[in-house]
Amino acid sequence: IRIAVLASGRGSNLQSIIEESQAGRLDAEIVLVASNKADAGALERAGEAGIATCAIDHRQFKNREDFDREMVAALREARVDLVILAGFMRLLSNVFIEAFPHRIMNIHPSLLPAFPGLDVQRKALEYGARFSGCTVHFVDGGLDTGPIIIQAVVPIHEDDNEESLSARILEQEHRIYPRAIQLFAEDRLRIEGRRVRILNPDR
Ligand code: GRF
Repeated sequence: IRIAVLASGRGSNLQSIIEESQAGRLDAEIVLVASNKADAGALERAGEAGIATCAIDHRQFKNREDFDREMVAALREARVDLVILAGFMRLLSNVFIEAFPHRIMNIHPSLLPAFPGLDVQRKALEYGARFSGCTVHFVDGGLDTGPIIIQAVVPIHEDDNEESLSARILEQEHRIYPRAIQLFAEDRLRIEGRRVRILNPDR
């Protein structure tokens, strides 16, 4: 399948997907990396890997829908089957979601539905949770609310801080995001209401 990765920041999740793809472990080709930030580390990583990039500054548009239309046009042009949000710091409007129904994934560094939104590693620590983790989910109109595909759990230690917990979670992000993409590529994901059924889960 042809995938696009959308990222606003450093792009470590992008990197893990590039590496899995280059190692031949992913039936997916990254045909485009797009960002709303021209200076995103993710664009640099894409460039180094020889992947096409595009930067669209959201501040140029008078509303979210106009920005989304521009993004959708770029994704259509690249004939993308699946859109991967990896630290993409923009909410998607219905214009975007309806252009790729059930074809947009996101990764979030908590065990949803706990701690949606921003600064969630800090929130998990402050809350006193004993475990946190990460979630790959399909994107719907809400903030971190769509059907869950894969989660990974990590313990929270007494002496953790935001940095140490984020690093432990990130390691799992890099493992489960490529896995979720591969399940999609193998056509093994079935959305049934809120739930996602994985065909042949042991394979
Ligand atoms: C990750 O923690 C991801 O879960 C969150 O944003 C961060 C992006 O990191 N949505 P990176 O840019 O992939 O390194």
